[in-house]
Amino acid sequence: MIGIIGAMECEIRGLVDIMSGVTCQKFASKSFYTGKIGSTECVVALSSEGKVNSAVCTQIMIDKYDPDFIINTGVAGGVGSGISIGDIVFAESVVQHDYDVSALGMEKGYVYGIDCIYGRTDEALTRELMEIAEGMSIGVHSGVVASGDQFISSREKKDFIRSTFGAKACEMEAAAIGHVCMLNGKPFAVIRAISDGSDDGAKVDFPVFAEAAAKTTIEILVKFLKKREQR
Ligand code: ADE
Repeated sequence: MIGIIGAMECEIRGLVDIMSGVTCQKFASKSFYTGKIGSTECVVALSSEGKVNSAVCTQIMIDKYDPDFIINTGVAGGVGSGISIGDIVFAESVVQHDYDVSALGMEKGYVYGIDCIYGRTDEALTRELMEIAEGMSIGVHSGVVASGDQFISSREKKDFIRSTFGAKACEMEAAAIGHVCMLNGKPFAVIRAISDGSDDGAKVDFPVFAEAAAKTTIEILVKFLKKREQR
């Protein structure tokens, strides 16, 4: 079974809509849809936004469904240079940009429990997903994806996230999902489509572009699942 987590309805609906034999179970106010996409058993969950929601969702998914791996899908704000709205960013690693115990002498982003700053995504899985996106006519990037409990909409915060962590994109869940996956020894990958530039224009761009951006990630995931069926 493959696990997929998205925070917003538009980030997962396209997957649930094509599932056969779909059932929905609710735990901790989160919906878990199980069924088949093509011939692949999947559990697709709607976590809601933010690190706590997505962490709770990830732990429940692991405990109740034990997927082989978890893919976090959705939209993100562009942070790195040369990243445009509509592009796709795959996480090589994830970081919690708002986790800060530097007052205690640790580097910014250092997370207790996993005892590191950057959580590494599964390399082979990420490559497999990237190959699908590279076969489509869209901008594809890979690098650090930074998560925090903030919608980033200022040049100052965006610059902090890029200069401190070398991030290419920011959003609100990937590193929390990665954190829980690492605690459980579960491989994970992150695919994000850019809906805005994380700057002063983000408030305007996000509602305009989020849905179309989310559609692209769903397209990539469907192609990814189809390709896996053939091997
Ligand atoms: N998701 C999409 N755009 C975002 C932004 N600018 N900040 C945080 N999460 C996002």
